[in-house]
Amino acid sequence: DKGNHRHFMAKEIYEQPETISHTLSHYVDMGNEAVALREALPFDFADLSRLTISACGTASFAGAIAKYWFERHARLPVDVDVASEFRYREPPLEKGGLSLFISQSGETADTLAALRYCAGQGQYVASIVNVAESTIARESQVVFPTLCGPEIGVASTKALTAQLTALASLVIAAGVARGTLDRTREAELVRALVALPSAVSAALGTESQIVEISRRLSKARDVLYLGRGPMFPVAMEGALKLKEISYIHAEGYAAGELKHGPIALVDEAMPVIVVAPSDELMEKTLSNMQEVAARGGQIILITDEDGARAVGEGVAETIVIPKVESFVAPILAMIPVQLLAYHTAVMMGTDVDQPRNLAKSVTVE
Ligand code: F6R
Repeated sequence: DKGNHRHFMAKEIYEQPETISHTLSHYVDMGNEAVALREALPFDFADLSRLTISACGTASFAGAIAKYWFERHARLPVDVDVASEFRYREPPLEKGGLSLFISQSGETADTLAALRYCAGQGQYVASIVNVAESTIARESQVVFPTLCGPEIGVASTKALTAQLTALASLVIAAGVARGTLDRTREAELVRALVALPSAVSAALGTESQIVEISRRLSKARDVLYLGRGPMFPVAMEGALKLKEISYIHAEGYAAGELKHGPIALVDEAMPVIVVAPSDELMEKTLSNMQEVAARGGQIILITDEDGARAVGEGVAETIVIPKVESFVAPILAMIPVQLLAYHTAVMMGTDVDQPRNLAKSVTVE
């Protein structure tokens, strides 16, 4: 049932304040502003020397964001790879290490094969899945659930933000166990997560502006998405979502890599979407933006109030989302990129919920 929405994807985008909050309530003890994992862990975060994450598509971008988080907040080194590369590479893995798999369906063939490889290497095997009775869930020693309900639209939206919510909770748990987050900081990060659903609701309020911007995107042949740090995987996800449902070619790039190649593509005809909330990296990204503007590039900036104030001239459109603690900013930044892809696809008249050539669950290799 789509409710009042035209597509399941729209319904699922709009459900995110609830689905994030529901997922969070599984991981967090709100009263104590602490993470309280209910799952019995066969490993101890304090003893790990490395975490290996494998997933496909959108779920792999959740893993890529988690890498920044685990490394910063838990000082835990993370390798993250798409499962189809990881499994055939057969990387050497230290016995007793932790391997984590992320999958909405829990049936993705490459992710499952990567899991079986890691289990065979004596790794602890954990997964973040949405479908509790799936193969990946069954074959994992510990399952961290996402509680976003069934996701019907082929393009993943609420599953991704639920995966990120679960991952953020694990990062806090790991940081506490490893002594890299003290009690005060733990409480701050938990509060930031708890405040996220209302920030997501506010970010959904950018929709009418995004409808207008999508009119412009729908005329483009190519779209470039840029982000730095944890916003780089957001850029990748924005590009993937646009490709999947609007069939417009899009690429996500690390902002700092712009001058190493893709800047050659920049002209008036190619919209450049820059994901840059105000943080310690924003200034660097702003200077990349100036390089785009100087070549006539049409910049669509996704930022917060402070970021919008800092940019000044040279930006065609600024989408302002609430300012939140940097930790949770990549989750919030998913909302405008989802809406941009959705409305562009609607404008182009594609089959949003059933895009051509795609399946909800990829059980072939
Ligand atoms: C993107 C999308 C795909 C899936 C990927 C993994 O919108 O839907 O990229 O994210 O096929 O699927 P799961 O999470 O089921 O393993």
